[in-house]
Amino acid sequence: MRVNTLRTSEESVLRELELEGVEFIVSKEVPYMVKVVNSKRPIRTLKPVKEFKVVPQDLASAVVVEALKPGFNESIIDLTAAPGLKTSLIMMLSENRAKVVACDKSLKRLNIMRNLLKKLGVDLSRVSLIHSDSTTISLRRFDKALVDAPCSNSGAIHKDPGIKLSLTKGKVLHNSIIQSKLLSNALRLADYVTFSTCSILPEEGEFIISKLDLSDVKLFRAITWVGKGYPVVNFYESLMRLMPHIHECEGFFIATLTR
Ligand SMILES: C[S@@+](CC[C@H](N)C(=O)[O-])C[C@H]1O[C@@H](n2cnc3c(N)ncnc32)[C@H](O)[C@@H]1O
Repeated sequence: MRVNTLRTSEESVLRELELEGVEFIVSKEVPYMVKVVNSKRPIRTLKPVKEFKVVPQDLASAVVVEALKPGFNESIIDLTAAPGLKTSLIMMLSENRAKVVACDKSLKRLNIMRNLLKKLGVDLSRVSLIHSDSTTISLRRFDKALVDAPCSNSGAIHKDPGIKLSLTKGKVLHNSIIQSKLLSNALRLADYVTFSTCSILPEEGEFIISKLDLSDVKLFRAITWVGKGYPVVNFYESLMRLMPHIHECEGFFIATLTR
């Protein structure tokens, strides 16, 4: 879970969780993230969750935003933003001072996102929600771009083995084409781009980066305590991976690219 510092302080919400009988471990690397070890009640029924003081969010999802390193007053485009967990973390880390354009091709998910951002205490005057196809959207330039691309979700198979049933080569190929288009467009919009997928497959990670003209961009290991990419490309040491059995979170591929 993530402590939502737009609504509370870490100290006070951790005390509340203790009083609710929740046993947890605070992440060493990302101190606003908390791993629930035991809870007397289902997480969603806890008072601090209902009050949006803590948000159910996976550690790997937070690390993606850490790799983006959102700064105060930066202009950031989130090309695949709904339902908004990462956008809201961008706003939390920038203390509601970043200026974010959040795009998604699903209007339904954008509507859910607007409600969620409001409940999480995000300053909506600094976030524009745009219904768009982000593979082609053309806007002014931004300081940074985030692409948390649609993918197989194979990084969550340990929690939901049913994902295996819908995992086909055709779907992975379809996703990888969209992922490449989203990343290329992000590099047209900003000089600092973080790309991620909740996937353990190189087709949705290393191979997407290998299709780029790497003479034009630099890969930057924005977070150093996570694993490196798979050694299936010669620049794997510049990529980032989180693995369920090592980092106790969803499996994620992360690349940060700069010019
Ligand atoms: C992994 S989810 C994003 C989750 C979100 N970043 C978060 O942290 O809450 C991927 C999103 O990409 C959107 N998407 C897929 N293809 C897209 C496209 N061509 N343009 C814009 N959004 C797209 C989907 O509707 C979905 O909401």
